Amino acid sequence: MSYYDHVVEAAESLRIKLGGLVPRVGIVLGSGLGAAADTVADPIIVPYEEIPNFPRSTVEGHAGRIVAGLLNGAPVAIMQGRVHYYEGYTPAQVTFPMRVLGKLGIRAVALTNAAGGIAEGLSIGQLVLLSDHINQMGWNPLIGPNEPRFAVRQGTGLRFFDMTEAYSKPLRALAHEAAADEGFNLVEGVYLATPGPSFETPAEIRAFRTLGATLVGMSTVPETIVARHMGIEVLGISCVTNLAAGLGAKQLSHQEVFEAGRQVEHRLAALLKRLAPRIAAHLDDAQ
Ligand code: HPA
Repeated sequence: MSYYDHVVEAAESLRIKLGGLVPRVGIVLGSGLGAAADTVADPIIVPYEEIPNFPRSTVEGHAGRIVAGLLNGAPVAIMQGRVHYYEGYTPAQVTFPMRVLGKLGIRAVALTNAAGGIAEGLSIGQLVLLSDHINQMGWNPLIGPNEPRFAVRQGTGLRFFDMTEAYSKPLRALAHEAAADEGFNLVEGVYLATPGPSFETPAEIRAFRTLGATLVGMSTVPETIVARHMGIEVLGISCVTNLAAGLGAKQLSHQEVFEAGRQVEHRLAALLKRLAPRIAAHLDDAQ
């Protein structure tokens, strides 16, 4: 079977498990950021191992299941946990879930992640909206033959496509409104993705700052690229779990990243809960 057929098979299996629910908004929750899934009403929970061809998360802090249902009235499919390149998965496997969510019916996705803060003025626990990214992973998930059947909108699924607004301006505007309603302010920043799994050296962080990066992490960029290929609108939200290497007093550890995630996950959950119906309404308007 081709990669495309594997995606269709996974999406069909998921569609049957979800009964009549057709998710419109996807949400991917990063390390220690799983709480948003707890506020879904009457959730249908599908562990990744029950979906044919789906990769399984091996990282502590990533639950590895889809939680689908209504989030504040909006039909969502939440991925609690993702897989990363550093786990040994291929680029095709890393982006397989995004392809499946697109085939299932999502038209917008909120990608969240834990990230190290590079820019001055960032504090631990802060949420940052992604305005753009820098791909330093050394690969692109779309290398290989183009598959136009992944398109979910007219005029997408192209070999070459525009990335000048990879992170949707309208969705960012909605996120700013939702944050204001929650009583906090969101700044915007540029996310730089490395393959990991080692954290960066201080020299790398100085280089990344010179390149224009606000934040550094090991995920999200491949998913954004694939979502844009399909015509899915993307919102990116980073949680600053630590100051990047050489900027803080401490050495970096996954434990620190995970615990900082835990402290902010409820604020992220509240933001996503406010946002979900607004994103769904935005999609209806755009139709
Ligand atoms: N670097 C890379 N990835 C990360 C970091 C970091 O400092 N923090 C959380 N994810």
